[in-house]
Amino acid sequence: MDIDTLNGLFKPKSVAVIGASSTVGKIGHTVVLNLTESKYEGNVYPINPKADEILGFKCYPTIQDVKKPIDLAIITIPAKFVSDTIDECGKAGVKGVAIITSGFAEVGLVDLEKEIVEKAHSYGMRVLGPNIVGILSNSDKFNGSFAPFLPFNGKGSLVSQSGALLIGIDAATYMRGIGFDKLISIGNMSDVNFADTIEFLDNDPNTSCISLYIEGFKDGRRVIDVSRKAKKPIVALKSGVSAHGAAAAASHTGSLAGAAKVYKSAFAQAGIIQAEDLDNLFDRTLALSLQPPLKNDNVLIITNGGGVGVLGTDAAEKYGIPLKFAPEDVQEELKKHMPEFGSAKNPVDLTGMAGNEWYFETVNFSISHKWVQGLVVLYCETAMTDPMGIAQAIKEAVVKSGIKDKPVAVSFVGGERSEKAMHWLVENGIPAYQAPDIALNAMAALREYAIIRESANDEPFTYAKADKKLAMEVINKARSENRNALTEIEAKEIFSAYGMPVTKVKLSTSEEEAVKFAEEIGFPVVMKIVSPDILHKSDAGGVKVNITDEKGVREAYKEIMKNAKAYKADANIHGIVIQEMAPWGTEVILGSVNDPTFGPTLMFGLGGIFVEVMKDVTFKVAPFSAKQAESMLTEIKAAPILAGTRGEKPRDRKMLANTICLYANMIVDLKDEISESDANPVLVYEEGSGLKVADARIILKKK
Ligand code: COA
Repeated sequence: MDIDTLNGLFKPKSVAVIGASSTVGKIGHTVVLNLTESKYEGNVYPINPKADEILGFKCYPTIQDVKKPIDLAIITIPAKFVSDTIDECGKAGVKGVAIITSGFAEVGLVDLEKEIVEKAHSYGMRVLGPNIVGILSNSDKFNGSFAPFLPFNGKGSLVSQSGALLIGIDAATYMRGIGFDKLISIGNMSDVNFADTIEFLDNDPNTSCISLYIEGFKDGRRVIDVSRKAKKPIVALKSGVSAHGAAAAASHTGSLAGAAKVYKSAFAQAGIIQAEDLDNLFDRTLALSLQPPLKNDNVLIITNGGGVGVLGTDAAEKYGIPLKFAPEDVQEELKKHMPEFGSAKNPVDLTGMAGNEWYFETVNFSISHKWVQGLVVLYCETAMTDPMGIAQAIKEAVVKSGIKDKPVAVSFVGGERSEKAMHWLVENGIPAYQAPDIALNAMAALREYAIIRESANDEPFTYAKADKKLAMEVINKARSENRNALTEIEAKEIFSAYGMPVTKVKLSTSEEEAVKFAEEIGFPVVMKIVSPDILHKSDAGGVKVNITDEKGVREAYKEIMKNAKAYKADANIHGIVIQEMAPWGTEVILGSVNDPTFGPTLMFGLGGIFVEVMKDVTFKVAPFSAKQAESMLTEIKAAPILAGTRGEKPRDRKMLANTICLYANMIVDLKDEISESDANPVLVYEEGSGLKVADARIILKKK
């Protein structure tokens, strides 16, 4: 991505408005008016064949008549005229176009949108939109949109897929004093998308936190890549999280992989912090744009009221940064600034008698103490205190300490005076919120950011000894027979080619062969039907376990064949596999889907009811690091079972994490081939005893 080209779009030095209008109320009029009202200092060229002048600017019949350098053309003419206009812009040497006009891919006119982008690219132009509100930038005094005014000035920048919502956000955050430098509407993302804007904003000196409102990514993998590399915090609200494609999924994993779960995992991998709702997005943006990350969870709460202190304590636990009692030396010092009946533990309750001085002294001491890594200052408005005085005391105490690498968040509960004081704090770089739990949630976001950053630079795992040639031979054979569902034997051959331990298995086509193979593999054995027409073998009576001798093999062979025919008379039966009966182990499931947004994605969970009923599974977009594979083991609710509960020995988690890495490597390497796959069950033994993939399934992509 060429950042200079994006500079032309987002920080233009000259702008043409195509469809500029003298008619008040038209979008083409509003955009020109907004450029004036935001005191834009670049050149403005209204384009309209019917006007000589609009809002004091000389008007040109076409963009080619301007004959001066133009960075950005904002297009506000009806959809049917846009394509021709792109040619004119290209010929006029414009760097980028922002198409406000609606009526393209969102109403089914996909080809028209594609044509516009192709045309623009042929002239070296980039396209923002269509179907956008425009671009707003405080640092460039640039309101190139039909949103009413520039956002409240701040250090976050927000990118929104929804235009109307962006307008709402502009006004709503203004009222609350939550500041942004830029608001960017990206609409249909025909060309410039989330990944491009993240890259641009990461290099923008006026942006310290990147905030996203997402309905869906077009190229999720690139978003992960650029976000992982970003130097700034990214916080995102994802809407539209209903399950997708579940009904059509042929494998277990496919039916469990809902968009919400995969997005959540992808955000974590990308180092993107999630927001729960719009308010949470603003609150988290405020903290992340103004404060440093929280290095560990030693958070101290200072308050003048027990109630807000308890609310803060509850919220700290809820958001994953539970409070600890402050060390003795901290408590001793704090006691000097409170009455006998105060509390120096944590929350530090200065009591309702606390005035500016006590706040100043306790904040100044605490933030400077090595144990304290983050400070939340709470205050309930009292008649004896002036909220602005308290706010100033907090700010002065932080400044005087000289500490810049520990975050501070504030909540004042009170009326108008408290509101004003909180606005003042925000303007002076300290995030302030109306309720204690919001301040703690903001602090938790700063902790999440610190944790996420630590793992974002881990190298993805690759398995050097993978035998892709062998895997492709198996796949090509199935394709030559017009099969997309591989047999268990074929699937296991591929798993084995990628280093995963699978149970021994052989295909018999007669009773005699079955006996021979069972003896070779060693008793006890499992026998299973092999048929591309019978995917759910147990349901068809096609599985017999714990067969201990020749007689058992012969009986099972006959019965399985009978059951299979009864289940589906015309089933194409390849034979019956004889499989090593692996000893009992904890059953886990590994699986993969080819997510429409993120590509190969791996799922992990405990087998049996954990997956069937509880749907206790976790996802990661492959590839990922060995450390991230380890973290998958702790992400499921049933994690304590693997760690060993009720006298059970811990399972071989090291081997399991390693197998997850090998599996991820397989689905990335074969991403053009594998649509879905499962290793289910994988039997995991005691620590040091490894695991075995007992059954495997691979479904190929249709070609
Ligand atoms: N070059 C220059 N000016 C042109 C032109 C061209 N090729 N074609 C038309 N114009 C002029 C028109 O004459 C008109 O000027 P006038 O007021 O002086 O007559 C002006 O451009 C606008 O055209 P008009 O036909 O009046 O359209 P409109 O203003 O009613 O609607 C849009 C245009 C783009 C606003 C409308 O089509 C649209 O897409 N609206 C939705 C936008 C939106 O909501 N986007 C964000 C979604 S979240």
